Amino acid sequence: MGIKQLKDINRNYISQNFELTVLIGDVKVKVARNGKRFADITIQDASKMIEAKYWDYEDNEEFINSIGAEDAVNIKAVVGEYQGQIQVTIKHIEKAVMDSVDITNLIPTSTWNLDTMKNGLEFFYRKVHTPYMKKLLDKMIFSEDYFEAFSTHPAARRVHHNYYHGLLQHTLEVLKFSYTVAVTKQLSERQKERLIVMAMLHDWAKIIEYKSLPNVGFTEKGVMLGHVFLGAHNTLNAIDEIEGFNQDDKLIIINGILSHHGCLEFGSPVLPKTVEAQILHQADKMSGDVESIITFISEQGDEEDAFTNKLWNMGTNYYKRGID
Ligand SMILES: [Fe+2]
Ligand SMILES: [Fe+2]
Repeated sequence: MGIKQLKDINRNYISQNFELTVLIGDVKVKVARNGKRFADITIQDASKMIEAKYWDYEDNEEFINSIGAEDAVNIKAVVGEYQGQIQVTIKHIEKAVMDSVDITNLIPTSTWNLDTMKNGLEFFYRKVHTPYMKKLLDKMIFSEDYFEAFSTHPAARRVHHNYYHGLLQHTLEVLKFSYTVAVTKQLSERQKERLIVMAMLHDWAKIIEYKSLPNVGFTEKGVMLGHVFLGAHNTLNAIDEIEGFNQDDKLIIINGILSHHGCLEFGSPVLPKTVEAQILHQADKMSGDVESIITFISEQGDEEDAFTNKLWNMGTNYYKRGID
C-alpha cells in the first residue's frame, strides 16, 4: 500500500506525507486572502493529473518560475482536505535528475492497442474510393510529415483523450460511431466517403494546436487560431492542390470540420449544414463525453462514496458502484 502514483491518493491517506516523481503541467501564481502569493501547480504522472498547492512560493520564487511543462520534479507533499475535496499540498520540490527518469513513464498512454488502432484507421481509409478524397487523406494523414504526430498526439489537454495516442483513439471512435450511423441510415456511398474524410480530419489540427508530448499545453498557434480554424484552413489548402476536387464535396467537408463542435458557443463559427456534418458532431460529442465519464469514474474508483464528484463538463456526478 502507500501512495505509489497520483491515482492512489484518496481519503484514507489524509494528513499523510508522500514522495513522488511527477511531471509539471502548469504553474499558476495566485494571491491568497492574506496577500501572500502561492502557486497552483498542475502535476501529473501516467495515472492522473492533479492540481497541488504550494504555499511557500515567495520563499522559492526563482526556482518555481524556472520550472515548466516537461520538467520532472521530485516532490514531498501531504494529503489534506478542503471544503470536502482532497487537496494535495507540496512541502518540498526539486528538479529530478533527468537521467534517472523515463519521462514516458509519467505520461498516460491510450489503453487501446496501437497496431489495432492503426489497422482500424486503414480499414476506414480503404472504404474511400474516390481518387481525390483518397489523395486528401494521403496528404494530410498517411504522409511522412504528419502520420507520426497524428498517431501519437493527445486529443485534449484535459477531460478526454489527453494521453499518448489520444487523438488516434478519439479519431477512430468518431469514425466507428459515424460510420455505424451512416450505414444504419442508409446514406449514399458518396455521403459515407465524405463522412469518413470529415471524421479523420475533424481534429487533425490538434497536432498543431497542442505541443507534442511530453510537452503539454497549447502552442502559440493553438492559442491564437484553434484547431477548428486550423483544420479547415489546412484542409482547404490541401484540397486546392488536388486537381479535380469536386466543389460540393469541398464545401461539405470544410463545413463539417468548421461545425464539428455543433454550436457557436462551443467554438464552431458555423452550424452543421449537412446530415454528415450533424452525424460527425454527434459522434464527436459521444466520444468525448463517454470518455470523460469513464476516466472520471476510474480516477475516483478507490474512494468509499457511491458517487463521484461533479464532472464539470457534464454538469453532474456519476454513480460508480456495480461496474464489475
Ligand atoms: Fe474538436
Ligand atoms: Fe473531436
